[in-house]
Amino acid sequence: MSKINLGVLVSGTGTNLQAIIHAIDDGWLNANVNVVVSNRSNVLALDRARGSNIPTKVLKYKKNSMTREEYDAALATVLKSSGVEWVVLAGFMRILTPTFLNEFPMRVINIHPSLLPSFPGVDAQQQALNYGVRVTGCTVHFVDEGMDTGPIIAQSVVSIHRNDTRDVLAKRILEREHLLLPTVLNWIADGKINIDDKGKVCVDRHDIDGKDCEIFY
Ligand code: GRF
Repeated sequence: MSKINLGVLVSGTGTNLQAIIHAIDDGWLNANVNVVVSNRSNVLALDRARGSNIPTKVLKYKKNSMTREEYDAALATVLKSSGVEWVVLAGFMRILTPTFLNEFPMRVINIHPSLLPSFPGVDAQQQALNYGVRVTGCTVHFVDEGMDTGPIIAQSVVSIHRNDTRDVLAKRILEREHLLLPTVLNWIADGKINIDDKGKVCVDRHDIDGKDCEIFY
């Protein structure tokens, strides 16, 4: 299989970006991060990218002078001109319009810190604590124009402990995210992900090893 060319969209800390970079550097993810795009300047994710010599771009949304579609068209242009085939939303805090999604049909994935469809949107960890669920987790899914909707690819379950604070729980989930996201990208690179005629994601189970045992797909 040839390497897949990724564009990673970020808005903040970039630990998921770092997990992707580690998986590539360790030689088990057959991918290249062609560009990292942030909608915010001075975020740690950009430093992480620069630290690994990955090209970066800051593209800010200017509410008064552009439409969401104009922003998304500019974003797609940056990614296309960098040779990106697959787009990874790794903490990117914007909802994409069809203007963007039509440029990368079924080629945009997102990671979210809950077991979707529970707790979409911001602060999914606090939402889970507020509700009182006993387990939560993380989800990687294809992106559509909704908020954290779109066909689910894989999920991983994380337990909630009695005295968890939001930050303690978020850290436990993040550790699992760092396993889940590169694993799904590895499946993509290996051509293991298909969509059935009902629009559901099918992962080819052939050759998937024990490392993935905490992941449901
Ligand atoms: C993660 O919890 C991810 O699931 C969510 O935003 C957070 C990004 O964290 N979409 P990081 O920037 O990768 O550290």
